[in-house]
Amino acid sequence: MLPGARYVSMLLRGGFLLALIIGFGFWFGWWTPSGAIVLIHMLLGLIVIGSVWYLGLAQAQRGGGSLGLTIGTFVVGLLLAIVGLTQERLFGSLPMVAVQITHLLLAVLAVGLGEMCVRRIRGAGPATAPATRSRG
Ligand code: HEM
Repeated sequence: MLPGARYVSMLLRGGFLLALIIGFGFWFGWWTPSGAIVLIHMLLGLIVIGSVWYLGLAQAQRGGGSLGLTIGTFVVGLLLAIVGLTQERLFGSLPMVAVQITHLLLAVLAVGLGEMCVRRIRGAGPATAPATRSRG
């Protein structure tokens, strides 16, 4: 496994766990979703999204990589960022619990796709070498 992918997979898991704990804290009223704690939660969420995108690209470069998986990581990551950034506005127009569950499901889906990428990277052979051109 690429050393970079190993560190990024640790970032993915750690970021997800911390964002989930903070998010459940909002949900169950342990702390109010305002100020620095929201920014920390968003930052952790964005780290998770960046990690999933990286892993989606990394797995595509290995033997047996999947373009569909790369596209999936980009779409789900983007949707998670959009729902996360706009959800306070969405609360007004959609039932709050529907927005909250969508947000959580997208996060779980994103991390699940990230884990699929990690498994592919682990199981794959060496990175596909760029085509060599003979000079002269
Ligand atoms: C690993 C990724 C993430 C997980 C596991 C996660 C989880 C949660 C959970 C369980 C909640 C409480 C329920 C809710 O209000 O929806 C929450 C709230 C929230 N999340 Fe996330 N989230 C993640 C990523 C993000 C991202 C990327 C953003 C924005 C960039 C974000 C922004 C927010 C905001 C603003 C709230 C508070 C909403 C409120 O109650 O006022 N989250 N998150």
